[in-house]
This record gives sequence, structure tokens and C-alpha cells, in this order.
Amino acid sequence: MKNPKANSDASNSSDKWWLSFYQDTPFITYLDTTHGEDQEDILNFLYNHCLLDRGKKQSISIFDQCCGIASISLPLAKEGFKVYGADICPQFIQEAERRAEKLKLKDNLSLQLADATVYLPPEKVDLTLNLYTSFGYADHQTNLKMLEKAHQSLKSEGIFLLDFPNFHLVLSHFRKHIVREIGPSDAPITVIREAQLSPLEGRLKQTWTFIESDGKRTRQESSLAIYLPDRLLAMLKEVGFKEFTVFGDFKTAAAYQTDSPRLIIQARA
Ligand SMILES: C[S@@+](CC[C@H](N)C(=O)[O-])C[C@H]1O[C@@H](n2cnc3c(N)ncnc32)[C@H](O)[C@@H]1O
Repeated sequence: MKNPKANSDASNSSDKWWLSFYQDTPFITYLDTTHGEDQEDILNFLYNHCLLDRGKKQSISIFDQCCGIASISLPLAKEGFKVYGADICPQFIQEAERRAEKLKLKDNLSLQLADATVYLPPEKVDLTLNLYTSFGYADHQTNLKMLEKAHQSLKSEGIFLLDFPNFHLVLSHFRKHIVREIGPSDAPITVIREAQLSPLEGRLKQTWTFIESDGKRTRQESSLAIYLPDRLLAMLKEVGFKEFTVFGDFKTAAAYQTDSPRLIIQARA
């Protein structure tokens, strides 16, 4: 794909920080490293808790709403499910396409450069995923639209899974600086996150500095809405979801608690 342009109405708007954040940083390495660690737990969770019956895989369809480099879409397509993935970042969709081609998964995985606040897959699906903090970047009304599209993407009784930071934990153990080394040992990348709370806006703002092994530095800012579980449940209800189950992590699928690692909400359309 050459210079693909997302189905987005305001790609020049500077308040849409995520339009440049992901493509202008070595974030693919970040996703491969950090997300790679919990990929198996997420897949097991989906099989055990999201009615992903391997026996019926040909007839089960999945929409990965902000798929990134298809870290989760690819193994699901490999398993035989029909998967639709969308993302607003051109580099991510290109990388996902490249990986799908390499794994000969193009028949099972359909990828689209698109804004998930407006995009719907070509057919209604059984399961829609929004994983690894792909939600909450925009203003409240736009965030709500992403949930509304998730609801519209599903068949009646279909399942939505939203994986978001547990802000009860983030706020009670607030860390101003997080430093992490990612990537291969011969070419590590240092990632420094400086975080700041903006309580009157209800947002967590972060400056991310990536220092590559050749000394190249990239700096980008991010801003995430601070949604606590009650608020997210109310938003999900507002767009039509029902029957909620709230988990605290993928590994144990334990019920959510204020000190759980994540906030994982499963809802029914
Ligand atoms: C932290 S990454 C996680 C990617 C993926 N869900 C995963 O589990 O690997 C967040 C992703 O959300 C995407 N994203 C954010 N806002 C979006 C939007 N409005 N439409 C589509 N993708 C969006 C970003 O481009 C990025 O790929």
C-alpha cells in the first residue's frame, strides 16, 4: 500500500495526537515487545470467555476495531476465524498487511486503514475487540462514537471486549516516570514516559521519549481520558450494550478489583 490515507475527516488536526504518535516513533517495536508478552494470555482468554469455539471457527467472525499491527488479529486469522482489522495508522496497517502476506493469511484477515469512530466492517460480526488501550484518545463524544460503532458492528447478542487501563490503580500508584528497555539486546530502545495528571480535564498526559541504539531520539505526547469502570459501563449502556462482566486481567480472568492490572469489560450487543 502506498501512502494510504485514512477514512478520517480531520487528519491535519493537531489535537488528534495519535495520528502522528504511532507512525513517528518506533512503536512497532514497543507493541512487539510489550504486547508480545501477553499475547498468549489474551488468546486463551478469548477462547475461554468470548465463545470462540474452535470447532465452529469458519462461521465465527471477529472485528478488531483498532488492530495496530494485528498482534491479535493475525493469530486469530491463523486459527481459522474470519477477522476484520481496522486502524488509523498507515504504517501499522502496512506492517499488518506485510505480516499477513508472509503468513499467507490474506484470505482470513481483511485489513482496513480507517477511523474506528466512523468505520464499520462489511458484515456484522460475532465478536468485536478493542484491546490494549486503543480507546479514550479523543474528546468524550468522539470516544462514545467508537463504542457506538463497536455496538453497530455486532450481530444481535454478539460480544464486545474492551481492554482499558485500570485508572483506580494508575491513580493510587501514580508514577511520574516510567523507563523501559525494549527491542533486541543488540539494538535496544529506551522508552521514557513522563506522566502528568490533568484533573480538571480528566486526562492522563504523557511525554514519550524513544532513544534508539544509534542515539536517535523521538519525542511525542499522548493524552488519554481517565475513565473509571462506572463511567465506562454507563457509556457502554448509553450506546446499547447490556450484560456486563468485568475482569481484572487476561491471565487469570479474575473479577475486576480496584487494584487489578487492567479493566476488561465484556458486554453483549
Ligand atoms: C496501543 S495501540 C494497540 C493496538 C492493538 N489494539 C493491539 O492490541 O496491538 C493503539 C492503537 O489504536 C489505534 N487507534 C487510535 N485511535 C484510532 C481510531 N480512531 N481509529 C482507528 N485506530 C485508532 C492506533 O493507531 C494504535 O494502533
